[in-house]
Amino acid sequence: MMGQSIQNVCLANNATFLSALLLLAVTTSGGPSLQCCLARSETHRRPPPTPPDGPHHPPAAPVMTPPPSPSATFSVVDYGAVGDGVTDDTKAFADAWSAACAAEASTVLVPASYVFLVGPIAFTGGDSCEPNVVFQVDGTILANTGSTAWRSGYATQWLEFKSVRGLTIQGCGVIDGQGSHWWSRNPLVDQGQTTTELDPDRVGTIDRPTALRVYQGDNVTVTGITIRSSPKFHLTLDTCRAVEVHGVTIASPGDSPNTDGIHLASSVGVSIHHTTIACGDDCVSIQAGCSDVSIRNVYCGPGHGISVGGLGKGGATATVSDVTVQDVTFNHTMTGVRIKTWQGGSGSVKNVRFSGVRVSAVKTPIVIDQYYCDHTACTNQTSAVAVVGAAYQGVAGTYTQRPVYLACSDAAPCSGIHLADIQLQPVKDSGYRVQGPFCWKAHGDEMRPVEPPVDCLITAGAP
Ligand SMILES: *[C@@H]1O[C@H](CO)[C@@H](O)[C@H](O)[C@H]1NC(C)=O
Ligand SMILES: *[C@@H]1O[C@H](CO)[C@@H](O)[C@H](O)[C@H]1NC(C)=O
Ligand SMILES: *[C@@H]1O[C@H](CO)[C@@H](O)[C@H](O)[C@H]1NC(C)=O
Repeated sequence: MMGQSIQNVCLANNATFLSALLLLAVTTSGGPSLQCCLARSETHRRPPPTPPDGPHHPPAAPVMTPPPSPSATFSVVDYGAVGDGVTDDTKAFADAWSAACAAEASTVLVPASYVFLVGPIAFTGGDSCEPNVVFQVDGTILANTGSTAWRSGYATQWLEFKSVRGLTIQGCGVIDGQGSHWWSRNPLVDQGQTTTELDPDRVGTIDRPTALRVYQGDNVTVTGITIRSSPKFHLTLDTCRAVEVHGVTIASPGDSPNTDGIHLASSVGVSIHHTTIACGDDCVSIQAGCSDVSIRNVYCGPGHGISVGGLGKGGATATVSDVTVQDVTFNHTMTGVRIKTWQGGSGSVKNVRFSGVRVSAVKTPIVIDQYYCDHTACTNQTSAVAVVGAAYQGVAGTYTQRPVYLACSDAAPCSGIHLADIQLQPVKDSGYRVQGPFCWKAHGDEMRPVEPPVDCLITAGAP
């Protein structure tokens, strides 16, 4: 029973419907979700081995040298999950995870055509868990919004993977945070404050959880899934190494508060590509302690753009280095590519390269803001996180407010800003007053064409 193949699960539970879908998928090649279920069933033709635990299972007959273990599959349904969208299935998820942890490279299956209501949960790896677990999400996981599900101490995230080695989260399913429940209850939003001005950290204290967080993950892949309507950030990767996120869809309304798409903190060696993000804050946010980050073929909109920072808040030391953003599209976003730091911090942003940036009706496509402040009382300080080396090569399209905004700090002027092949036109009749490029203490160089010219940039030889 446990560990049956996905095809069996699909067919056994919804025979007519599913076989019709599979047929459709074969004959028409289907949509992504059909392909996913189909692809999975193909890879699972072989019956998986008897699960390792359970007192009533006799040991596998004639013991031969086991082949390099064909991975076992642990469906949450076999651990008691109901999947009717009403019954809380948190315990079944925890039990399926524990069982999968006992076997190397096993799969936790969240099967298609079910809706699982799940409260906050931590899937913990560490020494008690074998590496390379696959978390296969083909069905829907829905956040339990009932207050009894949310005890204190669990408020900062909903689904957490902690101390995992070699985790793959994949599938064609949906992780739905039911964020509107939290958004509408946010007192700041209720007071009518605009979400763009909110302090991310402060908003976090109002107990809105991140949907999916991987903390202390090593060799982590997230692919195929859709994450939607997160109460706060959709996907956070914190203190991770060697991460790949691709083929992921993130979907929330543009006015949902502080709903970063992908939030990176203290992570090294991150690749995000072929991913579509619509949200109410930064599509990708790169925070302190990140380096060797590559972002390519990402679509952002609505949202606030792809941002490094805000760094250095409250005098913090922050470093970010070696970030490459290429072949990205921004549609109706607040910024395109942005670096934001607070006054008073220390550290640096080094070697950031943006290339192949397409913008469509973006308020301000290119932004460096060393006076980042999301409330009214920020004062200028005598130190700042330095920006050293920010290259913009090939940024084209339309803006509504200002093409380029480079507000560097008196305390730490920006250096090494490189503008090349910039072609930005204002959108006619956007309702905004179109302004020219702005610079303050911004040092660098331009390589034509740069349209409109950024004459305010302080180039070598100029005072
Ligand atoms: C990374 O994870 C994948 C899939 O879980 C696994 O196949 C691979 O061996 C892991 N690589 C390392 C270096 O651990
Ligand atoms: C860009 O955004 C607008 C407004 O949200 C939308 O109508 C349009 O379809 C988007 N364009 C593309 C290419 O996605
Ligand atoms: C901070 O410094 C900038 C640049 O010198 C200046 O434009 C701005 O008005 C100052 N802000 C405050 C709050 O003093």
